[in-house]
Amino acid sequence: MQILNGKRIVLGVCGSIAAYKVAELARNLTLGGAIVDVVLTESAERFVGTATFQALTGRPVLTDMWALPEDSVVGHVALGVNADLIVIAPATANTLARLAAGMCDDLLTTTVLATTAPILCAPAMNVHMYAAAATQHNIATLRGRGFTVLEPAEGRMAEPMVGKGRLPEPAIIEGEIRALLGRTHGPLRGKKVVVTAGGTREPIDPIRYLSNRSSGQMGYALAAAARDAGAHVTLISTPVTLEAPAAMELVRVETAIQMRDAVQAACTGADLLVMNAAVADFRPAEVADQKIKKQGHAEGMTLNLVPNPDILGELAQRDDLFKVGFAAETQDLQHHAEGKLQRKRLDMIVANNATETMSQNDIEVTILTRNNDVIMMPRQSKEAAAVAILQTIIERLPRLPADRGAGHTE
Ligand code: C5P
Repeated sequence: MQILNGKRIVLGVCGSIAAYKVAELARNLTLGGAIVDVVLTESAERFVGTATFQALTGRPVLTDMWALPEDSVVGHVALGVNADLIVIAPATANTLARLAAGMCDDLLTTTVLATTAPILCAPAMNVHMYAAAATQHNIATLRGRGFTVLEPAEGRMAEPMVGKGRLPEPAIIEGEIRALLGRTHGPLRGKKVVVTAGGTREPIDPIRYLSNRSSGQMGYALAAAARDAGAHVTLISTPVTLEAPAAMELVRVETAIQMRDAVQAACTGADLLVMNAAVADFRPAEVADQKIKKQGHAEGMTLNLVPNPDILGELAQRDDLFKVGFAAETQDLQHHAEGKLQRKRLDMIVANNATETMSQNDIEVTILTRNNDVIMMPRQSKEAAAVAILQTIIERLPRLPADRGAGHTE
């Protein structure tokens, strides 16, 4: 879902050393297709210059309420009235206080007061200023009014001090922006979506496990696409090297059994399950308490494996849940995928060539639906494929719970 495309985003920047970090945010929002109007407070101008943001957004940067373009009749409120979203990053203790008091003594606070769009604040300040009762009270007030106020990150501050007060990473703020826009405009707003990602790890002893080459990249991209489309997303992930995505629930699991339990819990009341994880079909029958030693196995050793539960198969009777499976095959792709679609009573299966895709960035998939549609997609990045797959799902999702259940054929 290209949720940023054409959206008018006001990026308010306050006077904090973290201001330099939001240059990257301004750039990425612009690259995503958003029309980004940067408003600098007076003290922000002491930390960053207008030229940086002007170059990155391709738009004039606004600082002074009395120096707006002549063509804007009601210039001081126009930005707020026309915005799809306002993000204030970094939000200082002073600006949070002014906002909580409902003041409009500069262009940024006036813009906020004049908007009906969602407002996101990403605070950044000294540890003690953040912990101060006044700041905490102001944040609680703003949250009570519907503002989304992020928790600052913990770590090293500009002063020689470690604590809570750092600006969240630009990627996290961007994820929160996408989620907020999705919840306002996206086709999956109000829907609950569960996505699984990565390859399960089946322990042999305390340090060894059986697993597969799944990187989790596709599952994470699908979860992000669902979040951008406005869904409440639960991402159930095995250990992978990817950053935890913003604005979704992340449940960490390792084994197929843990994943089964997490999926069953998350699917209560869910509308859509996208089962992208590569679940091990078998696990060792017994897990050794101690590391298995070479000694005593001079002739080699045999691992006794037992089948894992079929997570999707166990949900076959959930006709109220739209179920999407993945089939990574090394031969007879379409034939095997069709069999799985039927056996697991899926609504859709996404098939791909396992030898080609598990370790690569690009992917070529074929989608089969229970209504016998066959959709072949071109080779593209996993992010682009995730958006396209989700779009195909959205077009087939029942609009109302009452639409579900009818016509499920074997
Ligand atoms: O059964 P197979 O692994 O071939 O089918 C693939 C699909 O089934 C994937 O969507 C995978 O996440 C899911 N699966 C499952 N439980 C298993 C094995 C696979 O839900 N034990």
